[in-house]
Amino acid sequence: MELMTSVFTSEEIEKIRAEFPILDQEINGKKLIYFDNAATTQKPNVVINAIHDYYAGYNANIHRGIHHLAEKATGAFEATRESIRAFLNASSTDEIIFTYGTTDGINLIAQTYGRQNLGAGDEIIISTMEHHSNIVPWQMLCEEKGCVLKVIPITDDGEIIFEEYKKLLSAKTKIVSVVYASNALGTINPIPQIIEAAHTHGAVVLVDGAQAVSHLDIDVQSLDVDFFCFSAHKLYGPTGMGAMYGKRALLDKMPPWRGGGEMIKEVTFEKTTYNDLPYKFEAGTPNIADVIALKSAIDFVNKIGKDKIASYETELLEYATEKISQIEGVKIIGTAQNKVSVLSFVIHGIHPQDIGVLLDQQAIAIRTGHHCTQPLMARFGIPGTSRASFAVYNTFEEIDRFIAAIQKVIKLLR
Ligand code: ALA
Repeated sequence: MELMTSVFTSEEIEKIRAEFPILDQEINGKKLIYFDNAATTQKPNVVINAIHDYYAGYNANIHRGIHHLAEKATGAFEATRESIRAFLNASSTDEIIFTYGTTDGINLIAQTYGRQNLGAGDEIIISTMEHHSNIVPWQMLCEEKGCVLKVIPITDDGEIIFEEYKKLLSAKTKIVSVVYASNALGTINPIPQIIEAAHTHGAVVLVDGAQAVSHLDIDVQSLDVDFFCFSAHKLYGPTGMGAMYGKRALLDKMPPWRGGGEMIKEVTFEKTTYNDLPYKFEAGTPNIADVIALKSAIDFVNKIGKDKIASYETELLEYATEKISQIEGVKIIGTAQNKVSVLSFVIHGIHPQDIGVLLDQQAIAIRTGHHCTQPLMARFGIPGTSRASFAVYNTFEEIDRFIAAIQKVIKLLR
C-alpha cells in the first residue's frame, strides 16, 4: 500500500487498521472505504471486546449490589468516569455526567441550567454552523421562557465573524453555545477567545465537542469552559452514550432533570432529597456496557496519541483537498484556515444524493445531505453537500480511489 505520510509508517497504519474488523470486507466486490467518520467512527477490537466481556463475564447493575459481579461492574463503570476526567483534564469526577450523547447533554443543560436561570428577554448566542442539536433545544427554551436566540454570522469560508460575535454580546447574554469543530464544514472555531469574550459579559459557555473530541486536545480547565458535551461514538466508542462536563459550582446549583432511581438520597411521598454529584443527573440504570467500553476507546486513542492522530488526519485532509480541487466543477464548502478532517463539497449540476449512491456502488461510504445543519446549508444557498470525513485508519490510497470514483461519477452524469 502506498503511503505518503511522515506521521505513521505503513506498518503502523496496517496495525491500526487491523484493529478494526469492519474495515476488512468487500462491498459490491470492492474493498470498503469508510469516509463517514464524522457521522460515526468505526470501533476497534478493544471496544467490541469490552462490551462482550461485560455481558459474558460480569453483567450486573451498578451502585446497587454488594455481590462480586456488581462490585466489578461498578468499578469498571467508575473507571470510565475517571478516564474521561483525565482525558478532558477536569478537576474532579464529580464534574463528569454520563449522558446518551452530545444531544442529550445539550438538552440536559437547556432544561436545567436554562430553565432555572433564563427569563423573558434574556439572550442565547449560537453560531450559523450549529448542528440541529445545538439549535432546537434552545428554541424550545426560548418558546417556554420568552428568551431570544441570536446567531453569529459566518464568512463564505465558513469562519465565525468574531467582530459580529462581540457585537451580539451584552448584559442580556446568558448562554453562548457554540460548536468546537463543525460537522458539516470542518471549521475549528476560536473557542478560547469565544469563551473569554462571553465571560467578560457574565455569560456561561457550552461547547459542543462532538467532532472536536477525537481530533483536538481538550483541557476544560485551561479553556475555562462551563459545559462541554461529547458523544462516545465519534471517539471510536459505542453509540448511544457520551458525557457532559460541567463546572462543579454550576452543577451544584442546577436542579436535576430526570427523576428516578440513583439520582435520589431519600424518597418519601411528601418529599425527595437529591443525590450528590454526579449521580444527581444520572437517573435509572445507565448503559453500563457501553460506558465501560468508552474507557477502552479512550485508551486506544491515548495509546496512539491524539496529536499523532490529528497530524495524520490533517495530512489526509490536505491531500484530499488538493486532489479534489483539481477536478473541474467541484466546489469545496468550508475553506476555513483551521479544519478537522472534514471535506464537504458540491459538484456543479450533480445532486449530492446521486454522488453518494454512485460512490456507494464503488464501496465508498460518504454522507450526503444537509448533515443536520439546515440553516448552514441555507447560508450557502445549497440543499446539501457530499461529505468525506477521515479517521486514523484511512489511507492516501483510499483517497486516490475516492478521487477516481468522483471523476467516474462526473463522466457518467454529465
Ligand atoms: N452529526 C453527525 C454527522 O455529522 C450524525 O453526520
